[in-house]
Amino acid sequence: MMRDSVLVGIPGPTPVARSIQAEMARDMQAFGDPRFVADYGRLIADLGTLLNCSGQAFPLAGTGTLAMEMAIANTTKRGDNVLIVSHGFFGDRFIEICERKGLVVDVLAAEWGLTVPVAQIEAKLAEKPYAIVTVSHVDTATGVAAPVAEIGAMLKAYPGTLYIVDGVAATAGEFEDVDGMGIDILFTGSQKAFGVCPGMFILWASERALARRRSLGTIPEYFVDFEKWLPVMTDPSKYFATPAINLVWALKEAVRIVAEEGLRARADRHAANARAMQAALTALGFRVLAAEGCRAVTLSNLVYPEGLDDAKFRSTVFAEGMTVAGGLGAYAGRMFRLGHMGNIGVNDEVQALGIIERALVACGVPVELGHGIGVYLSALQQPA
Ligand SMILES: Cc1ncc(COP(=O)(O)O)c(C=O)c1O
Repeated sequence: MMRDSVLVGIPGPTPVARSIQAEMARDMQAFGDPRFVADYGRLIADLGTLLNCSGQAFPLAGTGTLAMEMAIANTTKRGDNVLIVSHGFFGDRFIEICERKGLVVDVLAAEWGLTVPVAQIEAKLAEKPYAIVTVSHVDTATGVAAPVAEIGAMLKAYPGTLYIVDGVAATAGEFEDVDGMGIDILFTGSQKAFGVCPGMFILWASERALARRRSLGTIPEYFVDFEKWLPVMTDPSKYFATPAINLVWALKEAVRIVAEEGLRARADRHAANARAMQAALTALGFRVLAAEGCRAVTLSNLVYPEGLDDAKFRSTVFAEGMTVAGGLGAYAGRMFRLGHMGNIGVNDEVQALGIIERALVACGVPVELGHGIGVYLSALQQPA
């Protein structure tokens, strides 16, 4: 098999559509070229519209982790109380970021596969004033989706607390609405459900978040300071740091694709696909780690049936033509993670399931070839 025909089945980066690839391959332009300036300006405006953010969208060079740092840097100062709601490894990442900044960190962590009840978050918020609360919309380590809208509605009673949502594994797959859900900062990476190569993040900030930044005076962080980037976001002919030019074009094309499909329709497609994939994978003997009712639509974390060896299974999957991710934390060696987000379709999923079925048979698991594919295709026929 040719190596570059290996399907990328990890939960991001995800397969990149041809029209997005073509943008990556364009001839370079100067960042002050009026054509690029117009393109960047269009992208910034379109991202604001797409996620219904009346504040400011910042599409910048860097990964999701840098966006996490940007969110914290612009909303908190040393000594502030912060509440971290964690549904896994990536929720936990905020703990170290906040501790390094000298914030007073409280954590509400769910058992892996479950969510922290909204009432528990509210009870914690009532204890003392928190500058921010952080929630990962989808934690990639557990495949759990948080009730982001419900938490946002509850937070209306705590106007001093800004709401930070990590949408790295969610945005453009799960439905989100920045103003409508009361989100103050949302961010994602280019490589996940937008289906672009890794290398950019997008951070949306509400008016409240921008005002919080202004209230902080000079902050210690430099590259991620809103105040450094705001002049560029309002007039992209200005320079602060070099934009990732070809990735800007690629993201612009990705946003066009998402807007054409519609954010809600795209979320519905992801949901129907996830239901069908999870039914198929369950029929093949895996257990979806996330409990029913809080399952992400963008990926599945699949606990192995008794006796299936992780290294053997994943290397066989690779030999059959797909890369999947391993489990993290306590689930290392006990499960694999499969992305199903972005610009992928039914045919990609049939291919993915076929590879998984062949790998299972090669590993000695007695599944009937085609069974998972049949369950998947039938489930897609059923109304939501
Ligand atoms: C939910 C979540 N948050 C943050 C990150 C970190 O993003 P990055 O790897 O782009 O720095 C990831 C990465 O997979 C993620 O899934």
